[in-house]
Amino acid sequence: MSQIIQSDQISTKTIYNFSAGPSVLPAPVLRQAQEELTDWRGTGMSVMELSHRGKDFISIAEDSEARLRALMPIPDSYKVLFLQGGATGQFVGVPANLSTASGVADYVITGQWGQKAYAEASKYLDKLNVAARTDPHTYVPPQGEWRLSRNAAYVHITLNETVNGVVFDQVPDTGDVPLVADVSSIILSEPIDVTKFGALYAGAQKNIGPAGLTVVIVREDLLARTRPRTPQVWDWYAMAKAGSMLNTPPTYAWYIAGLVFAWLQDEGGVPGIAEVNRRKAEKLYAAIDGSSLFANPVALANRSRMNVPFTVATDELEREFLAKAKDAGLVNLEGHRSVGGARASLYNAMPEAGVDALVAFMKEFENAHG
Ligand SMILES: Cc1ncc(COP(=O)(O)O)c(C=O)c1O
Repeated sequence: MSQIIQSDQISTKTIYNFSAGPSVLPAPVLRQAQEELTDWRGTGMSVMELSHRGKDFISIAEDSEARLRALMPIPDSYKVLFLQGGATGQFVGVPANLSTASGVADYVITGQWGQKAYAEASKYLDKLNVAARTDPHTYVPPQGEWRLSRNAAYVHITLNETVNGVVFDQVPDTGDVPLVADVSSIILSEPIDVTKFGALYAGAQKNIGPAGLTVVIVREDLLARTRPRTPQVWDWYAMAKAGSMLNTPPTYAWYIAGLVFAWLQDEGGVPGIAEVNRRKAEKLYAAIDGSSLFANPVALANRSRMNVPFTVATDELEREFLAKAKDAGLVNLEGHRSVGGARASLYNAMPEAGVDALVAFMKEFENAHG
């Protein structure tokens, strides 16, 4: 949420940003970043200007990792990497670091990002198995229906599909085969039992901080499987040994992430924010389900609490809805360019008041057009 001061400098307008990413950041974080922008704690330098090898930045990096570990929580038997290249980079990072001699990996595809992860991995592994794929992407098929390989190196899922608004209602049990999840749009929004996964990865630009930072959480015993020709920036083992500083890390994004983690700790941590997130999503789905203009196609059990796609009755009404919402300060409600429609992303930093404003606007729009 931010206040923009209009040109007459008298009226102010509240903006609620429903973007799927890069997305809204907590206002206190932005204010602190502003205060510290040119002089980080008496150094006379911006964090952007600090050497990543100097003690000041090392303290920022360590503090940030410690907060993330406490928030999730992440056991000591897992390494946390702060990398570049986005979640898309990790579509390659996963097969490059986790494939085994068998060369087989299983993918469960429940939306567009899972499909992309699969397509990218198929350039690196000869034997990829689609254990399940939904069409349309409106649900998560029960694990009993998956066709898992006998000796897969890993099973890949997208825990929350950002475009389709589809979330796993429970973490699958893949036994001894490491479960790997893209958690870009769900990390830190609700408790995730890290111990059920071999590896987790997330682009930061939703619930962590600015774009440019990618977090990988990997069980230590899975490191050292890295394929020999893996470029060092994708090499989890090498990066883990170098404290994510094999080359210059995204220092400023790492610092902002630390501020976001501190903010989240103040907000009651992940359980605290999860309760708010549950309320926000319930309010929006209730507004959609109670209307004759708006609709969401996702199975009830798999409706995402972070990304809520919805359609508006006709193309014309959809255009009008999006334009008027924008005028009302409810911005970035357009659906992903590949699917159209509308989508409200309700990440941690979206205040409940933003959802209340959206729901009120939807009711008003429906009354005017219903
Ligand atoms: C679930 C998911 N995976 C992957 C990506 C791609 O992330 P990046 O742009 O960081 O590569 C996104 C981006 O929105 C996403 O939501």
